[in-house]
Amino acid sequence: MTWQDIHRQVASALAFHHIENASFEAELLIRSALNITRAQFYAENNNITNEIPQSLLSMLERRIKGEPFAYISNQREFFGLSFYVDNRVLIPRPETELLVETTLELIKSKYPAQLPVTVDVGTGSGAIAISLASKLPNHRIYATDISPDALEVARINCSRHQVCSRVTLLEGNLLEPLPEPVDIVVANLPYIPRSTYKSLGPEILNFEPPGALNGGENGLFYIFEILEQSRTRLRPGASLLLEIGEEQSTEVMERAHSVFPRAGISSLRDLADKKRAILIENPQIPFDLTIN
Ligand SMILES: C[S@@+](CC[C@H](N)C(=O)[O-])C[C@H]1O[C@@H](n2cnc3c(N)ncnc32)[C@H](O)[C@@H]1O
Repeated sequence: MTWQDIHRQVASALAFHHIENASFEAELLIRSALNITRAQFYAENNNITNEIPQSLLSMLERRIKGEPFAYISNQREFFGLSFYVDNRVLIPRPETELLVETTLELIKSKYPAQLPVTVDVGTGSGAIAISLASKLPNHRIYATDISPDALEVARINCSRHQVCSRVTLLEGNLLEPLPEPVDIVVANLPYIPRSTYKSLGPEILNFEPPGALNGGENGLFYIFEILEQSRTRLRPGASLLLEIGEEQSTEVMERAHSVFPRAGISSLRDLADKKRAILIENPQIPFDLTIN
């Protein structure tokens, strides 16, 4: 059999089980199972084997059962870096790169001479904190998560990207484990409303950790809670950058305005022109302190 013969068989098995983009997924599975590059996959068309290798068959079986490819291959690209992932963490999504890009711009424009204290809240695989650390060689970054399992994965990724000495992993609720006030809070917290969560597709529902996605009744439980916690944990001139669902910007901006009436509050759009993040700048003095 050649690669192409194997590819044809794997793709038709995937298509038969209603996996979308079956041809592309088949290529990914083959390359991952047999550890070959794209170039090898396309170039070598000799007879390579008499039967489909067992490693590929077991990956195929998992994929047919709906497990995301990222968990099967234990790998996901984010911000040009390769992250180890398994079902202890959310698979990093491309839209979250908006948070990394915006944080880098903020640091460049607001802190040209100093090193801000930054925290990635709900770090999961460590995707945001490690991407920032990889672009900011002198910076130290806190990364918190309530899930010790997720922090184990973040630790693997810190080692992989050699940033263990600069990314401090802290277990706890949102900003509570921080040992000091911070300049920049960046967070992709769970924000899916409970009823929407229950209707998500099986690839998400059956495999990704519920605690990474379900944001409670209206989806905003953690986002509102981090705004409250920020009242006492920010340095002067701080910024908060929060990923949100595309329908949530008005509600989050209103709440942010009531917690931080003096702040500059704006929504940020992703490449599909959807409002996917809220930026809160200079929260300064919280409202309840200004009236004392
Ligand atoms: C949407 S995932 C984001 C993961 C990662 N930052 C990313 O963008 O790929 C949300 C993360 O927040 C964590 N989390 C949920 N509740 C939390 C809380 N109260 N305090 C800290 N982290 C929390 C979850 O364990 C999960 O890792």
